[in-house]
Amino acid sequence: MTLVYDLKTGYPTSEIAPLEHLSQIAAAVIASGKGFQYGGSLHGHEEARQGIAAFLSTALNVPCRMENLILTTGALTAIDMVCRTLTQPGDVVIVEDPTFFFAVDLLRMSHCEVVGVPMIDGGLDLERLREVIMAHAGRVKLVYTIPSFQNPTGITSSAAHRAELVQMAETLNFHILEDMTYQTLYYEAPPPPPLKAYDEGQGRVITVGSLSKVLMPSLRFGWIWATTAQNNAFIRFKSDASSSRLAAEIVAEFMRNAPFEEQVARVRALYRRKHAIFVEALTEFAPDWLGWSVPNGGFFVWATLPQDVTLTNVLRLAHARGLDVFPGRASYVTPPHDRTMRLCFAMLEDDILHGAGRVLGEVLYAAGK
Ligand SMILES: Cc1ncc(COP(=O)(O)O)c(C=O)c1O
Repeated sequence: MTLVYDLKTGYPTSEIAPLEHLSQIAAAVIASGKGFQYGGSLHGHEEARQGIAAFLSTALNVPCRMENLILTTGALTAIDMVCRTLTQPGDVVIVEDPTFFFAVDLLRMSHCEVVGVPMIDGGLDLERLREVIMAHAGRVKLVYTIPSFQNPTGITSSAAHRAELVQMAETLNFHILEDMTYQTLYYEAPPPPPLKAYDEGQGRVITVGSLSKVLMPSLRFGWIWATTAQNNAFIRFKSDASSSRLAAEIVAEFMRNAPFEEQVARVRALYRRKHAIFVEALTEFAPDWLGWSVPNGGFFVWATLPQDVTLTNVLRLAHARGLDVFPGRASYVTPPHDRTMRLCFAMLEDDILHGAGRVLGEVLYAAGK
């Protein structure tokens, strides 16, 4: 298949990065020798941490200090470090079902049992969560959640849901691993504050984040946001000596030049445009029988086929037209059926994105015949 319409890959578009400006910064950082050496502190480059702390405090209105942050090689490494620190082999980690597929692989690398709790319209099913925790009497150590613009469903939980989940962590004695990768990528109104805001310094919520979707994924620049005592425990599991000094110097310099909120605001406007193009194309071209969500932020439309249309058939016809989508089943710990797909609209150029919506609609009509 020659892939023309890639709705499968969950990557950002390179349009988000001011490439010329970044290359000037990178060239200057390398020429000065500042970016040459290992990182030094295991916690990470101080000025870059200060920059991220200031950004999180302003953008989310939740106090964050440099001491609350460890820099990591992307959010993925952050997830791995938190899980390895807070669990022992054989412990249970709960994830939203469906969730970010790569996180499940990482959590399993800690030799934990990964158990899925269904996502419902408002987020993780909290009633079911309580039952599962009770059923595993004392073995549940961690709940991994993406509360805003979840990958893959696009769902955002309400403030009340967030408060209840954090309260539950306190009473039932588990930690929450909050993934804020999409938190700042809303199109109109911001989502409720991150779970961290409901924690009030208790340390029940450990938040991981990243610049991958708002600046440049290849920087592999992420963080863990936790109490200083927790961070001192997490760094014992830092296996890369330090995250990239070069990336940290570039980020610090970028933030020195202008408030990072300006960059994120530009990125938001760009994704808002892509979202509008794709939603318009799906509205025009998708059959009425396709169930699909309109997210308020993030990268993904989540779509469900009716009972008599198989994803296998959709994929066969799609591949013949140079189109690909992400099969929803790959995001589940326990797939309920094989009729869901994740459609990422963040990466394609505008006209190709519109074409992808049209071709998908035609493929679906053909599959439904
Ligand atoms: C929910 C979620 N967390 C983390 C990541 C990866 O983050 P990073 O590139 O910082 O490792 C992704 C990327 O797809 C994601 O969707």
